[in-house]
Amino acid sequence: MALKRSALEAAGKRYREEGISRRVRGIAVSAIKEMPLLARDIPGCVSLGQGIPSFPTPEHIVEAVCRHLREASWTGKYTLGPGLPALRRAFAAALDRERGLHVDPESEICITVGAMEGLCAAILTVVDSGDEVLLPSPNYASHIEQVLLAEGRPVFFPLRPLDWQLDLKALREKISPRTKALVLCHPHNPTGAVFPEEAVRAVAEIALEHGFFVICDETYDFLTYDGRSYFSLLAVPELRRQVIGVFSFSKKYAMTGWRVGAVVADREILDHVMKVHDAAAICAPTPSQVAALAALEGPQDCVAQFRDILQSRRDRLCSRLDRMAPHISYVKPQGAYYVMVKIPPDLGDSMTVALRLLKEARVITIPGAAFGPGGEGHVRLSFGGTEEELDEAMDRLELWISQRVDIRR
Ligand SMILES: Cc1ncc(COP(=O)(O)O)c(C=O)c1O
Repeated sequence: MALKRSALEAAGKRYREEGISRRVRGIAVSAIKEMPLLARDIPGCVSLGQGIPSFPTPEHIVEAVCRHLREASWTGKYTLGPGLPALRRAFAAALDRERGLHVDPESEICITVGAMEGLCAAILTVVDSGDEVLLPSPNYASHIEQVLLAEGRPVFFPLRPLDWQLDLKALREKISPRTKALVLCHPHNPTGAVFPEEAVRAVAEIALEHGFFVICDETYDFLTYDGRSYFSLLAVPELRRQVIGVFSFSKKYAMTGWRVGAVVADREILDHVMKVHDAAAICAPTPSQVAALAALEGPQDCVAQFRDILQSRRDRLCSRLDRMAPHISYVKPQGAYYVMVKIPPDLGDSMTVALRLLKEARVITIPGAAFGPGGEGHVRLSFGGTEEELDEAMDRLELWISQRVDIRR
C-alpha cells in the first residue's frame, strides 16, 4: 500500500513538473495580475496597480446590450469568426474618421477577445521557435510572455531613461538575421511616453529595410495629453504588408470587463491570424460585440471626458510625486495612464519595494522588473483610479517614503 502511494506521489510530481509543456513552464502570470492576487490577503489595500479606469461602462452601451439580450436571440449565440459584420463596418468607419486609415471591413478586420487575444494571435501568427522579437525595455509585461509562449526570443532594446523615448541606435544594434518582428505599444505602457512622428517614421524605415513584421499595440491610441498628436506605424502605407494593428475597446469606452478588441491587417496576414483566433476563441463574445457596436455608434463625448479626467488625475499624481523629490523621480506621462517612479536603490530592487509597499503601506504597485530589464529600479503607478483612491494611495506612499528616508539618515 505504502509502495503504491509513493509511486502515485512520484507520478503526480512528475506530472506536475514534467507533464507541463516547455512553453508553459517558460512563462509566468504577469506581475500586473500577480500583485492584486497577493493583495487579496492584505485587507485595506489601495491600488495603483493594474490599469483599470474607474469609469463605469457608459449607460447607452449597457442599455443596448440589455435590449439585445431581451429582444434578439442571436445575441446569445456565436457570431462569424471575424465578428459581427455591422461591428466591423462601424470599426472601419471609425478608423477612417478618426485616424484616416482605410481598411476593408470584410477582409482586414477581426474582432477579438480584447487586445490581449489579438496580440497573442498576431504573435503566434508570425513568430516561430527561436525567432527574435524586438521589444522596447521597459515594455508591457504580457508582450514578453506572449513572445515566450510562441517560443520566440524577446530581444530588448532600451528606451532612453531620461525621457523614455525611442533610441533608434539601440534598436538598430539589436537587429539580427533572426529578427522576425517588433512589438511596439504607444502611447506606451508602462512609461506613458508618446513617440513623435519622426521617430515612428524612422522605425518604419528600419522595419522596411530589414523586412520584419511590426505588431502595433494601439490600446491607448485615443489617450494623449496636452493636445499631443498621435502617429502610428499603421499610418505608413509602405509598411502595410508587414504591419498588424491590435486595438482595444477596454480603456477607450470603459469596457475592460467586456473583453473586446480587434486585429487589423492586410488580408493575406489576417487570414492566418484568423486561424489562431478560431482555434483559441471561435469568436469574441456576442453580447460584448453588441456593446462595442453601441460604443462606436453612440455619442463619442465619453472618450473626451475620460481623457480630460485622466489628464487631471495625471496632474494630481505628478504634483504629489513632486513633493517627494529628490527621493523619487519620474518622467511626466504624455499618454496612457501610467508613470514609472524611480525609487532610491537602497530601498531594494523593484520587486522588494513593490512587496514592501504592499505589506507595509498597503499600496499596490507593479515592480518595474516585470516590464523587462529597463524597468528595474522603478515601480509603475497607474492613475486610472478615482481621485479619492489616488489621494489615499499617495498619502500612504509619501508617509512610507518619508519614514524610510528618515531611517536612513
Ligand atoms: C499595452 C496594453 N496592451 C493590451 C492590453 C490588454 O487590453 P485588452 O483589455 O483589450 O485585452 C493592455 C491592458 O492593460 C495594455 O496596457
